[in-house]
Amino acid sequence: MKIGVIMGGISSEREVSLHTGQEMIHHLDRSRYEVVPIVIDQRADLITQVLQTGIDLGLLALHGQYGEDGTVQGALDTMGIPYTGSGILASSLCMNKELSKMLLKAAGVHTPTGLCWHGMNDYNPQAVEQLGYPVIVKPNTGGSSIGIQLVHSEKELLAAAQEACGLDQAILIEPYLQGTEITCSIIDGEVLPIIGIRSAHSEWFDYRAKYEVGGAEEKVIQLPPLVEQRVREAALTSYRLLQCKVYARVDMIVCEDIPYVLEVNTLPGMTANSLLPKSAAAAGISFSHLLDRIIDSSLH
Ligand code: DAL
Ligand code: MG
Repeated sequence: MKIGVIMGGISSEREVSLHTGQEMIHHLDRSRYEVVPIVIDQRADLITQVLQTGIDLGLLALHGQYGEDGTVQGALDTMGIPYTGSGILASSLCMNKELSKMLLKAAGVHTPTGLCWHGMNDYNPQAVEQLGYPVIVKPNTGGSSIGIQLVHSEKELLAAAQEACGLDQAILIEPYLQGTEITCSIIDGEVLPIIGIRSAHSEWFDYRAKYEVGGAEEKVIQLPPLVEQRVREAALTSYRLLQCKVYARVDMIVCEDIPYVLEVNTLPGMTANSLLPKSAAAAGISFSHLLDRIIDSSLH
C-alpha cells in the first residue's frame, strides 16, 4: 500500500508538523507500506502532489489550520482518497474551541468557562475583572500553545489580547485553573494510560515545555480511582460527542478532583517528544504498531 505522509502546511504549527511527519516516516513499517513524503508549502500542493503520487492513503501529519481543521479532509474526500483520523465535522469542530466547548458544556462535561471576543471591538476589561485574574488568553483556533498568554492584571491584558487578536479571528479569555495538567489519548475508543504533565520552566504547558527536550516532565499518572474514572468518562464523552474517529488526544486540567477539558486534538503531535506516542508506549504499543492501528482503523 502506498502511504503519503502529508506534512508541513501553512499554519503556525508547520515546524511541529514537519517533526511529526519525519517521526512517522521513520517508524512506518516498510514491509507493509511504500512511503511517500508529501510536504505542503502552499495550498495547491495538496491536490497536485496527491494526484501526482497516486497514493492509496493520506497519513495526516498536519497540525492546525488547513490540515487539522477539516479543509484538507474535505479536499481528500472530494478526491476520493482515504486519510487517517477524523472527518470534516469533528476536525472543524475541535479546531474551534468556542464551539466545541459550548457542546461540551451542554453535555455536562466540565470545561473552563470564560469569555470569547471576536476582535478587539469586544475588548471588555470589566468582564475580565469579574472572572478574576490570572486569566489565560488564547487564540480560539490555535494549537501548540502558540499565542497563549497568562495574564495577571488589567495592565497586561490589553497587549495580550491585541497579540492574540492578531493571530486569530476570535480569542478566549479563561480563568487560569490551578491544578494538574493531564492528557488522555484515545485510539479506536480505547483510553490509553493518562499522562500527567509538569512544565519545567513555566506555569503552564507552553511551546517550550511541549517541544524542548527536558521542557516538561510527562509521565503516566496514578490518579485516585474516582478521579481516573471521571477523566476517562470526560475524555470518551468529548471524543464521541464531537464525532472524533480513529484517534484523538483530550487535554485537561484536574482541579479539586474535577477534570476540566481544555480541548480535543484530532491530529495530536507525533514528534519524538509528543504525548500520544508516550501514552501508547506505556500501554505496550510501539510507534510502528500505533501507526498500523491508525492506518487500519482509518481504512475500516
Ligand atoms: N497541536 C499539537 C501538535 C498537539 O496537540 O499535539
Ligand atoms: Mg492543541
